[in-house]
Amino acid sequence: MTDLSRLKQPLTLRCGATISNRIGKSAMSEGLGTADNRPTDKLVKLYRTWAEGGTGLVITGNIMVDRLALGEPGNVAIEDERDLELLRRWAAAGQRHQSQLWVQLNHPGKQSPKMLSSEPVAPSAIPLDPRLQRFFQTPRALTEAEIEGLIERFAKAAAVVEKAGFAGVQIHGAHGYLVSQFLSPLHNQRQDRWGGSLENRARFVLEIYRAIRQRVSPGFPVSIKLNSADFQRGGFTAEESMAVAEMLDTAGMDLIEISGGNYESPNMTGRRQAASTQAREAYFLEYAEQIRDRVSTALMVTGGFRTAAGMAAAVADGATDMVGLARPLAVCPDFSARVLSGSDSEITIKPRITGIAMIDDMAMMETVWYARQLERIAEGRRPKPNESPLRVFLRQVLRTGVNSVRTLRARPG
Ligand SMILES: Cc1cc2nc3c(=O)[nH]c(=O)nc-3n(C[C@H](O)[C@H](O)[C@H](O)COP(=O)(O)O)c2cc1C
Repeated sequence: MTDLSRLKQPLTLRCGATISNRIGKSAMSEGLGTADNRPTDKLVKLYRTWAEGGTGLVITGNIMVDRLALGEPGNVAIEDERDLELLRRWAAAGQRHQSQLWVQLNHPGKQSPKMLSSEPVAPSAIPLDPRLQRFFQTPRALTEAEIEGLIERFAKAAAVVEKAGFAGVQIHGAHGYLVSQFLSPLHNQRQDRWGGSLENRARFVLEIYRAIRQRVSPGFPVSIKLNSADFQRGGFTAEESMAVAEMLDTAGMDLIEISGGNYESPNMTGRRQAASTQAREAYFLEYAEQIRDRVSTALMVTGGFRTAAGMAAAVADGATDMVGLARPLAVCPDFSARVLSGSDSEITIKPRITGIAMIDDMAMMETVWYARQLERIAEGRRPKPNESPLRVFLRQVLRTGVNSVRTLRARPG
């Protein structure tokens, strides 16, 4: 019998907020916003369902701080208080039981697709690798004034998030989006105070953290999702990541969620994990064990957890304070309650492939298939674990095209 007592234990963060158990729902982009990137009632329904599912901490899919810089059509953006009423309903529905609902804030930088962005921005004007250039334009380097403006956008969005009643925020510092581009020596080749040394590359995220801290209450959790590494030659390494984790710890960060990879090297969903890592279930546990002694910030490791025994061991061993789940909660929204009550001990998550190499090679397929399950839950239906990946893919291609056109039309001017 697995000892679940550590998984059931509440966790108090350094800001004083308490999470009711050790299972977190990691961010999953829902794509359920309107064409002009406002929240919808579908999101309220989806998060009500998760709130009933026993997960202690639920983190929203990435919400953009600039509606002109999107990762996908259907992203929600928070730039001001125009959607406060709907955000309030979303926050309330997501916290009806014992879970806390945090908002993940993001800017995609160069990982904003061509159809949504003719001139994406990034620390430096370096394109993504040639395989991805069909989908992504070469970015323009940000000016210093623009960098300051983006920091302010994160802070302003966080203030709106707190006002709406969400319980915390998370900066998306992982997966190759703008914050992670700044951290990477491969993507950030600036010569000014925002590039070069690790200290300079980390300035952007630290300034975002400080600006948010100044705008929210002292008891409001501020966290980050950070890559343990980018897994690219010349990229952000595990050693650099650990040094950044120490800087964030010193600055006062409440929780660091550990992930890894980016669009060029998609390790976040486990496609390229070594067999030894897969045998340990979670992808980034070794990294967590190494930083555990170096930081006092709470840690959450996400990626690969599928069994009660694996999750309980990761927390009991002290490698991490929390375990993060994404795909399991898209096909079984109450998996956490089932694990904690002892009624379920395992979930099978198989690769979602169409069988067509060209499509499957784009790591996007997993995301598309799971996002479709989120949409089903948001419509009050049950997830469909055997839904055909090819059918979902074709449907998504069509919808992305239509939604992108709608989004471009909805833009002023
Ligand atoms: C549909 C989908 C959307 C995702 N969107 C986000 C996102 O918005 N922000 C983020 O940090 N990670 C995102 N991820 C990555 C997950 O949070 C998580 O790191 C990854 O799926 C590994 O966890 P898992 O093995 O439990 O699925 C997404 C994953 C999926 C499947």
